[in-house]
Amino acid sequence: MLLHIPEVLTREQVAGMRAALAEAEWTDGRQTVGPQGAKVKRNLQLPDASPLRRELGDQVVAALTRHPLYHAAVLPLRTISPRFNRYEGGGEYGFHIDGAVMSTGRGEEHVRSDISCTLFLADPDEYGGGELIVSDTYGEHEVKLPAGDAIVYPSSSLHRVTPVTRGARIASFFWIQSLVRDDSGRRLLLEMDTAIRTLSAAGADQAAILQLTGVYHNLLRRWAET
Ligand code: NI
Repeated sequence: MLLHIPEVLTREQVAGMRAALAEAEWTDGRQTVGPQGAKVKRNLQLPDASPLRRELGDQVVAALTRHPLYHAAVLPLRTISPRFNRYEGGGEYGFHIDGAVMSTGRGEEHVRSDISCTLFLADPDEYGGGELIVSDTYGEHEVKLPAGDAIVYPSSSLHRVTPVTRGARIASFFWIQSLVRDDSGRRLLLEMDTAIRTLSAAGADQAAILQLTGVYHNLLRRWAET
């Protein structure tokens, strides 16, 4: 499921992050990938140990936690502390698959990457190219969103970022282990959650809504791994 999560950050939050990132020291993005990824990755990142990465990453996670669509779609269990990247001057990231298991940097704790998230911090007219291309069984999808908006997609997807031909593409990116490992299961739960909210807003029969809500939770109970 490829899903657009609109307005995760306000314009003010984006402006604040951009101001902080404009002053930041960046490092070669190849430091955080294996040899396969290093062959095709050409971008800059905030160093993993950078205090700014932690500070802005916490702001990103806090904003997502408050977002009802994100919560309903992702059902987050564990989240890697967000990273920040910058593509410019022809920078790109060729087709790759994200690593399956990642260290959180907190002791032995690891995250299985079920879902990948990119949060855009530059508006589409600020840079040329830089589309995120996600390839799945339905073909290739091209994603370039307004600053403050996010995209989530299965980490099992092949994906790439096309060369940035003008300006700079600035984004935050990270991975989530979901309570529900299976993408199609998460999709069913999101659709049921959405339908229940719509029925409630329309003043539908309370007993029927209660019954559907029970089904939602009992499916989640069946599928959730903690
Ligand atoms: Ni990737």
